[in-house]
Amino acid sequence: MKVFIVYAHPEPKSFNGAMKDRALLAFERAGHEVKISDLYEMKFKCTIDGDDFPARANPVQLQIPFEQEEAYHSGSTAADILAEQQKLIWADLILFQFPLWLYSQPAILKGWMERVFSSGFAHEVSARSDARRWFEKGGLRGRRALLSFTCAGAATAYEPTGRHGDINRILWPIHNALRYAGLDILPPFIAYSVLRGGDAARLEILDRFEAAMKNIEIAAPLGFHGLADYDDAHQLREGVVPMTAGQWRGSL
Ligand SMILES: Cc1cc2nc3c(=O)[nH]c(=O)nc-3n(C[C@H](O)[C@H](O)[C@H](O)COP(=O)(O)O)c2cc1C
Repeated sequence: MKVFIVYAHPEPKSFNGAMKDRALLAFERAGHEVKISDLYEMKFKCTIDGDDFPARANPVQLQIPFEQEEAYHSGSTAADILAEQQKLIWADLILFQFPLWLYSQPAILKGWMERVFSSGFAHEVSARSDARRWFEKGGLRGRRALLSFTCAGAATAYEPTGRHGDINRILWPIHNALRYAGLDILPPFIAYSVLRGGDAARLEILDRFEAAMKNIEIAAPLGFHGLADYDDAHQLREGVVPMTAGQWRGSL
């Protein structure tokens, strides 16, 4: 298997650094090929702006999805974005390793996703395409993705009635963004309470993580609704039972 690790932490001695090293060890021991993008070390540009499109198709106004598609189809995608897209195409599994910051991925990883999962490459829903390429028809279909992240908060705080709220709902935007590109999403590996518990607790997490990565080839993906589950108004069809945190039908 070919594994692409996207790692977002500025400190190599961090717990996230230790998790990235453990994943690498587990994958190499299992005979997998691994590529890593260490976003801070690469100083990866994490904002989309006009500099991404030196050969602007529309010099009057920057319309990002349009420019991304033009760049993709004309072969003029910025070199740093193209290099990441080639790693995604190469991979069978993409592992994201990051700390949970403000209930989300760190800005550098969010920006990597905005630039690399570009229109044309990861998905295309514009007038240019005959059929929309998104969700199970997305550009990265056939590949799997997994979020591995650390939190200061305790597991109980991320239960549906916990202080921080249901972790599945917190992860929904990231998971659905990956699904939008066609990826199958594996259940996340979540390291809770990493700032408490000391070395023994951290070692236990690393061992559990290594064991999980060893068996990752047989992990079953999370369920997502297929395109056929929705009607023309993008609503779940009558009778389809919501199965994800995104389509949760609760009231406050
Ligand atoms: C900017 C920032 C935002 C954070 N937000 C959260 C959060 O939303 N939830 C949480 O559980 N921990 C949060 N934390 C704590 C980090 O998740 C924690 O420091 C990290 O997971 C520890 O891993 P590390 O040792 O590899 O940095 C935040 C930390 C920082 C610096």
